[in-house]
Amino acid sequence: MAARLVRISGRPPLTLLRGPVRALRAGSLLVIPTETVYGLGANALDPDAVQRIFEAKGRPATNPLIVHVANESDARALAESWPEQAGVLAHAFWPGPLTLVVYRNRSVPDIVTAGGPTVALRVPDHFVALSLLEAAHTPIAAPSANPSGQVSPTRVEHLSERIRQAAAYILDAGPCPGGIESTVVDLTGPTPRILRPGLLGRDQIESLIGPLLPADASARHSPEAPSSPNPGEAARSPGVLGRHYAPRARVLLIERTPSSDVQAFFSEGGAPLRIGWLALRDRPDVPTPCHVLRMPTDPEAYARELYDTLQRLDEVGLDVIAVDLPPDEAAWEAVRDRLRRASMG
Ligand code: TXA
Ligand code: MG
Repeated sequence: MAARLVRISGRPPLTLLRGPVRALRAGSLLVIPTETVYGLGANALDPDAVQRIFEAKGRPATNPLIVHVANESDARALAESWPEQAGVLAHAFWPGPLTLVVYRNRSVPDIVTAGGPTVALRVPDHFVALSLLEAAHTPIAAPSANPSGQVSPTRVEHLSERIRQAAAYILDAGPCPGGIESTVVDLTGPTPRILRPGLLGRDQIESLIGPLLPADASARHSPEAPSSPNPGEAARSPGVLGRHYAPRARVLLIERTPSSDVQAFFSEGGAPLRIGWLALRDRPDVPTPCHVLRMPTDPEAYARELYDTLQRLDEVGLDVIAVDLPPDEAAWEAVRDRLRRASMG
């Protein structure tokens, strides 16, 4: 049965959430807006419900889920211990696009954490998600509401048929204001590290708790690597390696490519390719015909538009999406990460 669509514009009256809350408590899945991307949520304390998330997404059981809670004290209730840094970061950035990985206690079902000793927690900064969490009185496990490996939805229109069929309700609050996912910070080791760059910048986190381990230290934490080359490491973030956030079209990152090479590249042999271009500057040299889309030169605005643009280009049915790679600067870290992973073959 297809999901029921509930449109919410202002603060949701509790009557609007009555059906979704009942469905959640009965073990059904809901599509929920957050400030980052839409999530596919289930009662985190109900292993059968959480299992439905993995089935609906085709997500490997080895990739743990983020648990969403209404506030810091609900987060602490799921943690074995609450490091001082967790308190500092939660106080500063929750509700907000920051996910904290800490040791879990036994109230968290194994399926949520992929059997691991840690749990990822966040308080979303969205009035619908928060109202739902408060009304349901239960933590909500929610990955992004896309089939595994594909682009995360930032609008209800992006939802795949498969996700629509799996959910009991879709709560439509319009476009997500952030546009890419939360920053995942691992607090289980001696030095905190970012497992996945995201909307909250590294600088903001470091300004409060000091330097984080460099990015490549976390890149070793392979997903598909239960047999990690670093078995002593505390936590891996399975979503952080490999092709991900990927549209159907091939994504080609363009870095400092001379104009003359561009045309040559696309005219090499075979049938003409259907090409889209996420451009950061004028591209008079693009091969024609080509859908050129000028992207914002501000990282926040770029992040807000990125997934929507990729989704729209995919609907056009392209072979290749060329992307002007934004500069290697801190403010672009999360966007560059998503583009790189979308481009992996
Ligand atoms: O913005 C977001 O974070 C969105 C919204 C819906 O909240 N959620 C999201 O969930 O992006 P998902 O499942 O698509 O990505 C969760 C990331 C993955 O990279 C996963 O491997 C990592 O968090 N993760 C979850 N639990 C973990 C744990 N215990 N240890 C390490 N990494 C974990
Ligand atoms: Mg995801």
